[in-house]
Amino acid sequence: MSPLDSQKSEKTIINVLSEKSNSITPIWLMRQAGRYLPEYRQLRLDTGGFLDLCYTPNLASKVTLQPIKRFDLDAAIIFSDILVIPDALGQKVSFEKGNGPKLGPMTLNHETLLKNKDKFLSHLRPVYESIRMVRKELSKDRTLIGFAGAPWTIATYMIEGGPTKTFSKVKAWSYKDPEGFGKFIDGLVEAIILHLKNQIDAGAEVIQIFDSWAGVLSPDSFHKWVIEPTVKIVESIKRSNPNIPIIGFPRGAGVGYVSYVKETMVDGISLDTTIPTSWAAKNIPQKCTLQGNLDPDILINGGKPMVDQALNILHDLSNRSHIFNLGHGILPDTPPDNVKMLIEVVHRYSN
Ligand code: CP3
Repeated sequence: MSPLDSQKSEKTIINVLSEKSNSITPIWLMRQAGRYLPEYRQLRLDTGGFLDLCYTPNLASKVTLQPIKRFDLDAAIIFSDILVIPDALGQKVSFEKGNGPKLGPMTLNHETLLKNKDKFLSHLRPVYESIRMVRKELSKDRTLIGFAGAPWTIATYMIEGGPTKTFSKVKAWSYKDPEGFGKFIDGLVEAIILHLKNQIDAGAEVIQIFDSWAGVLSPDSFHKWVIEPTVKIVESIKRSNPNIPIIGFPRGAGVGYVSYVKETMVDGISLDTTIPTSWAAKNIPQKCTLQGNLDPDILINGGKPMVDQALNILHDLSNRSHIFNLGHGILPDTPPDNVKMLIEVVHRYSN
């Protein structure tokens, strides 16, 4: 056993989330499987489209485990995407090289959105099968994380047809017809709950909800389209699966992080890169585990600046239960050796 192993207890991420332990700081990284890994790029050359990879359990499970085989990470996150939900609802999703996701015409409304639940779930069955396969291979002391996009963020892609800088179409709908838009969001809430519960049934032990575009809303809209739908999701999962910790990620929410945590009752909160950890330690309720928040760009550059920022984060959050992570996903240009060094620093210097 190496000195690093001896500091670990079983299922560290779950312990930290459930018991609010501040005696260990486990680490995983958003987008820890992906293009920065040569073994991922190689596997991508040999497979079809990105979504084909997500829907092929023996490949998706293999990709999920690639970073676990290479690094001493405390959790695996199932390899999938937030856009499998619109795809499973019947709005075609494709990924073109260099252009990000592209969605087909949006013809769904709240009545047709989840008309056929069996079809929705059978489309997503490969994701659940991947989770089963990963759980079998993952050692007991590593946590398996399942995830979904939040309703607001999924709605932005569905209504804009892809990435956007302005969010003008989705905002126009929300302001012109808040009732109709609210019903659409509620339909997404229902689909997301179904997807998350099926991931839990398949073996996901922690859930993260990605609201990547939470930061583009005015305070009233943030409450209506980020907090309220997330409350519904958390309440429903807690009713059926009270022991599954939920981590929220309202990226860009700024001071809104505080009301998000207070109202949604998430067990953990993923801090984006802009949030000062000293502010979070003071202002986010103690009962919520803090996750984050190294800048993905400093990880590309590595060296002393990276180590210093990591140590500052560990210092600021030393009296809180803390899961080390980035403030957003790993970028494709990241050298894997920097990831290795970051993980060593966190395991060595955390409490
Ligand atoms: O974290 C993990 O390792 C698990 C896998 C995961 C992916 N996407 C794989 C992926 C997770 C958790 C996501 C979430 C996701 N997907 C989000 C929320 C998090 C965030 O980044 O804000 C969003 C907004 C998406 C939508 C999405 N998927 C975009 C905009 C893109 C294109 C941009 C890019 O990085 O290429 C994707 C594609 C995608 N999702 C890739 C991966 C590994 C790259 C696909 C490839 O070319 O191989």
